[in-house]
Amino acid sequence: LLLFTLTTTLFAQNYDETKAGSYVLPELLKAQNGKEIVSAEDWDRIRRPEILKLFEDNVYGQVPKDFDKIEFKVLEQNYKALNGKATYKQVAVDVIRNKKVITVQVHLFIPNKIKKPVPVFLTINHRGLDTMQASPENEFWPAEEIVNSGYAIAGFDVKDVAPDHKTDYVNQILTKLYPEQTLQPNGMRALGAWGWGVSRIIDYFETDKDIDASKVIVVGHSRGGKAALWCGAQDRRVAIAVSNESGNSGAKISRRNFGETVEVITRNFPHWFVPGYAAFANNEGNLPVDQHMLLALMAPRAVYVASAADDSWADPKGQYLALVAAQPVFSLFGLKTSLPANMPPNNEQVIQLPLGFHNRDGIHNMNLFDWKQFVKFADEYFKNNNKK
Ligand code: GCU
Repeated sequence: LLLFTLTTTLFAQNYDETKAGSYVLPELLKAQNGKEIVSAEDWDRIRRPEILKLFEDNVYGQVPKDFDKIEFKVLEQNYKALNGKATYKQVAVDVIRNKKVITVQVHLFIPNKIKKPVPVFLTINHRGLDTMQASPENEFWPAEEIVNSGYAIAGFDVKDVAPDHKTDYVNQILTKLYPEQTLQPNGMRALGAWGWGVSRIIDYFETDKDIDASKVIVVGHSRGGKAALWCGAQDRRVAIAVSNESGNSGAKISRRNFGETVEVITRNFPHWFVPGYAAFANNEGNLPVDQHMLLALMAPRAVYVASAADDSWADPKGQYLALVAAQPVFSLFGLKTSLPANMPPNNEQVIQLPLGFHNRDGIHNMNLFDWKQFVKFADEYFKNNNKK
Protein backbone atom coordinates (compact mmCIF):
# COMPACT_ATOMS: atom_id res chain seq x y z
CA LEU A 1 0.00 0.00 0.00
CA LEU A 2 2.82 2.35 0.87
CA LEU A 3 4.41 1.68 -2.51
CA PHE A 4 1.09 2.21 -4.25
CA THR A 5 0.51 5.52 -2.47
CA LEU A 6 4.05 6.57 -3.22
CA THR A 7 3.85 5.84 -6.95
CA THR A 8 0.42 7.36 -7.41
CA THR A 9 1.52 10.55 -5.66
CA LEU A 10 4.71 10.65 -7.66
CA PHE A 11 3.05 10.14 -11.03
CA ALA A 12 -0.37 11.66 -10.46
CA GLN A 13 -1.14 14.79 -12.45
CA ASN A 14 -2.29 17.81 -10.56
CA TYR A 15 -5.64 19.31 -11.54
CA ASP A 16 -6.11 21.45 -8.48
CA GLU A 17 -5.57 25.13 -9.21
CA THR A 18 -4.57 25.79 -5.60
CA LYS A 19 -1.67 23.37 -6.05
CA ALA A 20 -0.45 24.70 -9.39
CA GLY A 21 2.35 26.39 -7.48
CA SER A 22 4.17 29.65 -7.97
CA TYR A 23 7.11 30.02 -10.28
CA VAL A 24 9.59 32.51 -11.62
CA LEU A 25 9.94 32.45 -15.40
CA PRO A 26 13.36 32.74 -17.04
CA GLU A 27 13.89 36.30 -18.21
CA LEU A 28 12.96 37.04 -21.77
CA LEU A 29 14.72 40.33 -22.07
CA LYS A 30 18.05 39.68 -20.41
CA ALA A 31 20.87 38.27 -22.52
CA GLN A 32 23.17 35.59 -21.20
CA ASN A 33 25.88 38.20 -20.61
CA GLY A 34 23.50 40.18 -18.43
CA LYS A 35 22.70 42.84 -21.02
CA GLU A 36 19.13 44.16 -20.93
CA ILE A 37 17.42 43.81 -24.29
CA VAL A 38 15.62 47.06 -25.02
CA SER A 39 15.24 47.11 -28.80
CA ALA A 40 13.90 44.90 -31.55
CA GLU A 41 17.36 45.01 -33.13
CA ASP A 42 19.01 43.60 -30.01
CA TRP A 43 16.29 41.01 -29.68
CA ASP A 44 16.90 39.80 -33.24
CA ARG A 45 20.68 40.05 -33.05
CA ILE A 46 21.35 38.77 -29.51
CA ARG A 47 18.47 37.30 -27.55
CA ARG A 48 16.49 35.49 -30.26
CA PRO A 49 19.49 33.37 -31.39
CA GLU A 50 20.32 32.60 -27.75
CA ILE A 51 16.82 31.37 -27.01
CA LEU A 52 16.61 29.36 -30.23
CA LYS A 53 19.83 27.62 -29.23
CA LEU A 54 18.53 26.90 -25.71
CA PHE A 55 15.42 25.25 -27.16
CA GLU A 56 17.56 23.31 -29.61
CA ASP A 57 19.97 22.01 -26.98
CA ASN A 58 17.53 21.37 -24.15
CA VAL A 59 14.15 20.58 -25.69
CA TYR A 60 13.61 19.91 -29.40
CA GLY A 61 17.00 19.42 -31.05
CA GLN A 62 18.43 20.97 -34.18
CA VAL A 63 16.71 21.36 -37.51
CA PRO A 64 19.26 21.00 -40.31
CA LYS A 65 18.72 23.35 -43.21
CA ASP A 66 21.01 21.94 -45.86
CA PHE A 67 20.05 19.60 -48.69
CA ASP A 68 21.20 19.20 -52.27
CA LYS A 69 18.02 19.53 -54.24
CA ILE A 70 14.28 19.96 -53.93
CA GLU A 71 11.74 19.04 -56.62
CA PHE A 72 7.98 19.43 -56.85
CA LYS A 73 5.72 17.13 -58.86
CA VAL A 74 2.00 17.64 -59.23
CA LEU A 75 0.70 14.07 -59.02
CA GLU A 76 -2.96 14.87 -59.28
CA GLN A 77 -4.97 17.93 -60.16
CA ASN A 78 -8.72 18.35 -60.15
CA TYR A 79 -10.10 21.74 -61.15
CA LYS A 80 -13.62 20.77 -60.12
CA ALA A 81 -13.11 19.73 -56.53
CA LEU A 82 -15.66 20.67 -53.87
CA ASN A 83 -18.43 21.02 -56.47
CA GLY A 84 -16.32 23.27 -58.60
CA LYS A 85 -15.41 25.64 -55.80
CA ALA A 86 -11.80 24.54 -55.55
CA THR A 87 -8.84 23.07 -57.33
CA TYR A 88 -7.40 20.07 -55.58
CA LYS A 89 -3.73 19.27 -56.01
CA GLN A 90 -1.61 16.50 -54.69
CA VAL A 91 2.01 17.55 -54.83
CA ALA A 92 5.05 15.42 -54.11
CA VAL A 93 7.88 17.37 -52.55
CA ASP A 94 11.11 15.42 -53.13
CA VAL A 95 14.10 16.44 -51.07
CA ILE A 96 17.49 15.03 -51.97
CA ARG A 97 20.67 14.94 -49.91
CA ASN A 98 23.73 12.77 -50.58
CA LYS A 99 21.77 10.97 -53.32
CA LYS A 100 19.04 9.88 -50.92
CA VAL A 101 15.50 11.16 -51.31
CA ILE A 102 12.44 11.57 -49.16
CA THR A 103 9.00 12.54 -50.41
CA VAL A 104 6.45 14.63 -48.57
CA GLN A 105 2.95 14.47 -50.08
CA VAL A 106 1.01 17.70 -49.88
CA HIS A 107 -2.78 17.80 -50.13
CA LEU A 108 -3.99 21.19 -51.22
CA PHE A 109 -7.33 22.84 -52.00
CA ILE A 110 -7.22 26.28 -53.63
CA PRO A 111 -10.41 28.35 -53.98
CA ASN A 112 -11.35 28.80 -57.66
CA LYS A 113 -13.42 31.90 -57.90
CA ILE A 114 -11.35 34.48 -56.09
CA LYS A 115 -8.37 36.61 -56.96
CA LYS A 116 -5.00 34.83 -56.65
CA PRO A 117 -2.67 34.48 -54.92
CA VAL A 118 -4.46 33.43 -51.74
CA PRO A 119 -3.24 32.93 -48.17
CA VAL A 120 -2.97 29.33 -47.03
CA PHE A 121 -3.61 27.28 -43.90
CA LEU A 122 -1.05 24.48 -43.67
CA THR A 123 -1.77 21.66 -41.22
CA ILE A 124 0.75 19.40 -39.57
CA ASN A 125 -1.32 16.23 -39.43
CA HIS A 126 -0.49 13.32 -37.14
CA ARG A 127 -3.88 11.64 -37.53
CA GLY A 128 -3.33 10.15 -40.97
CA LEU A 129 -4.60 10.69 -44.48
CA ASP A 130 -8.19 9.76 -43.68
CA THR A 131 -8.47 12.95 -41.66
CA MET A 132 -7.73 15.06 -44.74
CA GLN A 133 -10.83 14.02 -46.67
CA ALA A 134 -12.92 16.95 -47.79
CA SER A 135 -16.29 16.13 -46.31
CA PRO A 136 -18.72 18.31 -44.35
CA GLU A 137 -18.43 15.86 -41.44
CA ASN A 138 -14.70 16.44 -41.19
CA GLU A 139 -14.44 19.28 -38.69
CA PHE A 140 -10.80 18.49 -37.98
CA TRP A 141 -9.84 19.59 -41.50
CA PRO A 142 -12.83 21.50 -42.91
CA ALA A 143 -11.61 22.07 -46.45
CA GLU A 144 -14.85 23.49 -47.83
CA GLU A 145 -15.35 25.93 -44.98
CA ILE A 146 -11.80 27.24 -45.38
CA VAL A 147 -12.09 27.54 -49.17
CA ASN A 148 -15.38 29.42 -48.72
CA SER A 149 -13.55 31.83 -46.43
CA GLY A 150 -11.10 32.73 -49.19
CA TYR A 151 -8.15 30.67 -48.06
CA ALA A 152 -6.36 27.67 -49.46
CA ILE A 153 -5.93 24.71 -47.14
CA ALA A 154 -3.02 22.30 -47.23
CA GLY A 155 -1.86 19.43 -45.11
CA PHE A 156 0.66 16.61 -44.88
CA ASP A 157 0.97 13.44 -42.89
CA VAL A 158 3.84 13.63 -40.40
CA LYS A 159 4.82 10.05 -41.12
CA ASP A 160 6.22 11.11 -44.51
CA VAL A 161 8.90 12.95 -42.54
CA ALA A 162 9.16 11.11 -39.23
CA PRO A 163 6.70 8.45 -38.07
CA ASP A 164 5.24 9.25 -34.67
CA HIS A 165 6.78 6.28 -32.93
CA LYS A 166 9.39 5.82 -30.19
CA THR A 167 11.89 3.97 -32.36
CA ASP A 168 10.52 4.16 -35.92
CA TYR A 169 10.61 7.96 -35.91
CA VAL A 170 14.06 7.74 -37.50
CA ASN A 171 12.75 5.86 -40.50
CA GLN A 172 12.30 8.70 -42.96
CA ILE A 173 14.27 11.90 -42.84
CA LEU A 174 16.67 10.86 -40.09
CA THR A 175 17.83 7.61 -41.64
CA LYS A 176 17.74 8.85 -45.20
CA LEU A 177 18.79 12.49 -45.18
CA TYR A 178 20.43 13.35 -41.88
CA PRO A 179 21.75 10.14 -40.28
CA GLU A 180 24.47 12.06 -38.42
CA GLN A 181 21.75 13.88 -36.46
CA THR A 182 20.68 10.76 -34.58
CA LEU A 183 24.13 10.52 -33.00
CA GLN A 184 24.11 14.06 -31.66
CA PRO A 185 22.76 14.76 -28.17
CA ASN A 186 21.04 17.84 -29.59
CA GLY A 187 20.22 16.25 -32.95
CA MET A 188 16.92 16.43 -34.78
CA ARG A 189 13.96 14.63 -33.21
CA ALA A 190 10.36 14.07 -34.37
CA LEU A 191 8.82 17.48 -33.57
CA GLY A 192 11.70 19.26 -35.30
CA ALA A 193 11.43 16.91 -38.26
CA TRP A 194 7.73 17.70 -38.70
CA GLY A 195 8.55 21.40 -38.70
CA TRP A 196 11.23 20.75 -41.31
CA GLY A 197 8.45 19.25 -43.44
CA VAL A 198 6.48 22.49 -43.11
CA SER A 199 9.47 24.50 -44.30
CA ARG A 200 9.89 22.32 -47.40
CA ILE A 201 6.20 22.78 -48.20
CA ILE A 202 6.66 26.54 -47.88
CA ASP A 203 9.51 26.11 -50.40
CA TYR A 204 6.85 24.65 -52.69
CA PHE A 205 4.34 27.44 -51.98
CA GLU A 206 6.97 29.92 -53.11
CA THR A 207 6.73 28.34 -56.56
CA ASP A 208 2.93 28.07 -56.79
CA LYS A 209 1.53 31.27 -58.30
CA ASP A 210 -1.88 30.68 -56.76
CA ILE A 211 -0.49 30.71 -53.22
CA ASP A 212 0.66 33.79 -51.36
CA ALA A 213 3.74 32.43 -49.62
CA SER A 214 3.99 35.55 -47.46
CA LYS A 215 0.70 34.53 -45.82
CA VAL A 216 1.28 31.01 -44.57
CA ILE A 217 -0.66 30.07 -41.45
CA VAL A 218 0.74 26.91 -39.88
CA VAL A 219 -1.85 25.01 -37.84
CA GLY A 220 -1.12 22.12 -35.53
CA HIS A 221 -3.31 20.28 -33.09
CA SER A 222 -1.77 19.02 -29.88
CA ARG A 223 1.56 17.35 -30.76
CA GLY A 224 1.19 19.04 -34.14
CA GLY A 225 0.76 22.34 -32.29
CA LYS A 226 4.05 21.84 -30.47
CA ALA A 227 5.70 21.27 -33.85
CA ALA A 228 3.94 24.30 -35.38
CA LEU A 229 5.29 26.60 -32.67
CA TRP A 230 8.84 25.26 -32.89
CA CYS A 231 8.72 25.54 -36.69
CA GLY A 232 7.29 29.08 -36.61
CA ALA A 233 9.94 30.11 -34.10
CA GLN A 234 12.67 29.21 -36.58
CA ASP A 235 11.23 29.76 -40.06
CA ARG A 236 10.32 33.40 -40.41
CA ARG A 237 8.30 32.70 -43.54
CA VAL A 238 5.53 31.48 -41.22
CA ALA A 239 3.18 34.47 -40.94
CA ILE A 240 0.92 33.02 -38.24
CA ALA A 241 1.52 30.04 -35.98
CA VAL A 242 -1.66 28.45 -34.66
CA SER A 243 -1.30 26.20 -31.64
CA ASN A 244 -4.44 24.21 -30.98
CA GLU A 245 -4.27 22.64 -27.53
CA SER A 246 -0.53 22.06 -27.78
CA GLY A 247 -0.19 21.86 -23.99
CA ASN A 248 3.00 20.64 -22.39
CA SER A 249 6.14 21.49 -24.37
CA GLY A 250 3.87 23.53 -26.65
CA ALA A 251 2.17 26.70 -25.45
CA LYS A 252 1.80 25.76 -21.78
CA ILE A 253 4.09 27.16 -19.08
CA SER A 254 6.20 24.15 -18.05
CA ARG A 255 6.81 25.46 -14.55
CA ARG A 256 3.08 25.52 -13.77
CA ASN A 257 2.21 22.27 -12.06
CA PHE A 258 -1.08 21.51 -13.79
CA GLY A 259 -1.91 18.70 -16.21
CA GLU A 260 0.81 17.00 -18.20
CA THR A 261 4.36 17.39 -16.90
CA VAL A 262 7.84 17.12 -18.40
CA GLU A 263 8.22 13.85 -16.50
CA VAL A 264 5.19 12.28 -18.19
CA ILE A 265 5.80 13.62 -21.66
CA THR A 266 9.46 12.57 -21.80
CA ARG A 267 8.55 9.11 -20.52
CA ASN A 268 5.72 8.56 -23.02
CA PHE A 269 7.11 10.41 -26.02
CA PRO A 270 10.92 10.33 -25.81
CA HIS A 271 11.23 10.59 -29.59
CA TRP A 272 9.80 14.11 -29.63
CA PHE A 273 12.71 15.59 -27.69
CA VAL A 274 16.44 15.51 -27.12
CA PRO A 275 17.33 12.94 -24.45
CA GLY A 276 18.58 15.68 -22.12
CA TYR A 277 15.06 17.12 -21.78
CA ALA A 278 14.18 14.24 -19.44
CA ALA A 279 16.63 15.65 -16.91
CA PHE A 280 14.06 18.39 -16.26
CA ALA A 281 11.41 15.90 -15.14
CA ASN A 282 10.17 17.07 -11.74
CA ASN A 283 12.83 19.72 -12.12
CA GLU A 284 11.16 22.25 -14.45
CA GLY A 285 12.46 25.12 -12.34
CA ASN A 286 15.92 24.45 -13.71
CA LEU A 287 14.93 24.60 -17.37
CA PRO A 288 16.85 27.46 -19.00
CA VAL A 289 13.67 28.23 -21.00
CA ASP A 290 9.94 28.19 -20.53
CA GLN A 291 7.31 28.08 -23.22
CA HIS A 292 6.45 31.80 -23.18
CA MET A 293 9.86 32.15 -24.82
CA LEU A 294 8.81 29.87 -27.65
CA LEU A 295 5.74 32.03 -28.32
CA ALA A 296 7.91 35.16 -28.12
CA LEU A 297 10.15 33.82 -30.89
CA MET A 298 7.27 34.45 -33.32
CA ALA A 299 7.55 38.22 -32.81
CA PRO A 300 6.73 40.40 -34.63
CA ARG A 301 4.70 37.78 -36.52
CA ALA A 302 1.36 36.46 -35.25
CA VAL A 303 0.59 33.70 -32.75
CA TYR A 304 -2.81 32.21 -32.00
CA VAL A 305 -3.27 29.95 -28.98
CA ALA A 306 -6.45 27.87 -28.80
CA SER A 307 -7.52 25.65 -25.96
CA ALA A 308 -10.53 23.67 -24.77
CA ALA A 309 -12.10 23.99 -21.35
CA ASP A 310 -12.26 20.25 -20.67
CA ASP A 311 -8.70 19.68 -21.86
CA SER A 312 -7.06 20.01 -18.44
CA TRP A 313 -4.23 17.74 -19.59
CA ALA A 314 -3.08 20.61 -21.85
CA ASP A 315 -3.69 23.24 -19.13
CA PRO A 316 -5.75 26.00 -20.82
CA LYS A 317 -4.76 28.58 -18.22
CA GLY A 318 -1.08 27.68 -18.47
CA GLN A 319 -1.28 28.21 -22.23
CA TYR A 320 -2.97 31.58 -21.83
CA LEU A 321 -0.44 32.73 -19.24
CA ALA A 322 2.42 31.89 -21.58
CA LEU A 323 0.89 34.13 -24.24
CA VAL A 324 0.49 36.93 -21.70
CA ALA A 325 4.11 36.47 -20.61
CA ALA A 326 5.36 36.66 -24.21
CA GLN A 327 3.98 40.18 -24.75
CA PRO A 328 7.10 42.21 -23.82
CA VAL A 329 8.91 40.94 -26.90
CA PHE A 330 6.07 42.07 -29.17
CA SER A 331 6.22 45.47 -27.47
CA LEU A 332 9.86 45.80 -28.55
CA PHE A 333 8.52 45.77 -32.09
CA GLY A 334 6.04 48.53 -31.29
CA LEU A 335 3.18 46.03 -30.96
CA LYS A 336 1.82 47.03 -27.56
CA THR A 337 -0.71 44.33 -26.82
CA SER A 338 -2.68 44.30 -23.60
CA LEU A 339 -4.15 40.86 -23.06
CA PRO A 340 -6.34 40.69 -19.96
CA ALA A 341 -4.46 39.24 -16.97
CA ASN A 342 -7.10 36.55 -16.52
CA MET A 343 -8.11 34.01 -19.09
CA PRO A 344 -11.18 35.23 -21.04
CA PRO A 345 -14.55 33.47 -20.57
CA ASN A 346 -15.14 30.28 -22.54
CA ASN A 347 -15.89 30.66 -26.25
CA GLU A 348 -14.83 34.31 -26.32
CA GLN A 349 -12.07 35.19 -28.68
CA VAL A 350 -9.50 37.74 -27.57
CA ILE A 351 -7.54 39.48 -30.29
CA GLN A 352 -4.71 41.85 -29.52
CA LEU A 353 -2.85 41.84 -32.80
CA PRO A 354 -0.62 40.03 -33.46
CA LEU A 355 -1.78 37.78 -30.59
CA GLY A 356 -5.02 35.85 -30.24
CA PHE A 357 -6.60 33.30 -27.94
CA HIS A 358 -9.75 31.34 -27.21
CA ASN A 359 -10.79 28.63 -24.80
CA ARG A 360 -13.86 26.88 -26.16
CA ASP A 361 -16.18 24.53 -24.32
CA GLY A 362 -15.49 20.86 -24.83
CA ILE A 363 -12.81 18.27 -25.10
CA HIS A 364 -9.37 17.87 -26.65
CA ASN A 365 -9.88 18.11 -30.41
CA MET A 366 -9.89 20.59 -33.27
CA ASN A 367 -13.31 21.47 -34.64
CA LEU A 368 -15.25 23.94 -36.75
CA PHE A 369 -15.54 26.43 -33.91
CA ASP A 370 -11.75 26.49 -33.60
CA TRP A 371 -11.26 26.92 -37.35
CA LYS A 372 -13.77 29.79 -37.50
CA GLN A 373 -11.73 31.60 -34.86
CA PHE A 374 -8.51 30.97 -36.79
CA VAL A 375 -10.09 32.46 -39.92
CA LYS A 376 -11.38 35.51 -38.04
CA PHE A 377 -7.96 36.05 -36.56
CA ALA A 378 -6.15 35.64 -39.88
CA ASP A 379 -8.64 38.00 -41.60
CA GLU A 380 -7.95 40.68 -39.01
CA TYR A 381 -4.22 40.16 -38.99
CA PHE A 382 -3.77 40.35 -42.74
CA LYS A 383 -6.18 43.26 -43.06
CA ASN A 384 -4.34 45.12 -40.34
CA ASN A 385 -1.00 44.46 -41.96
CA ASN A 386 -2.55 45.86 -45.09
CA LYS A 387 -1.67 42.61 -46.72
CA LYS A 388 -4.96 41.13 -47.74
C1 GCU B 1 -0.85 13.01 -25.55
C2 GCU B 1 0.35 13.80 -25.06
C3 GCU B 1 0.18 15.29 -25.34
C4 GCU B 1 -0.19 15.52 -26.78
C5 GCU B 1 -1.41 14.71 -27.13
C6 GCU B 1 -1.86 14.81 -28.58
O1 GCU B 1 -1.95 13.28 -24.74
O2 GCU B 1 0.52 13.56 -23.69
O3 GCU B 1 1.37 15.99 -25.03
O4 GCU B 1 -0.37 16.89 -27.02
O5 GCU B 1 -1.16 13.35 -26.87
O6 GCU B 1 -1.02 15.01 -29.46
O7 GCU B 1 -3.05 14.66 -28.83
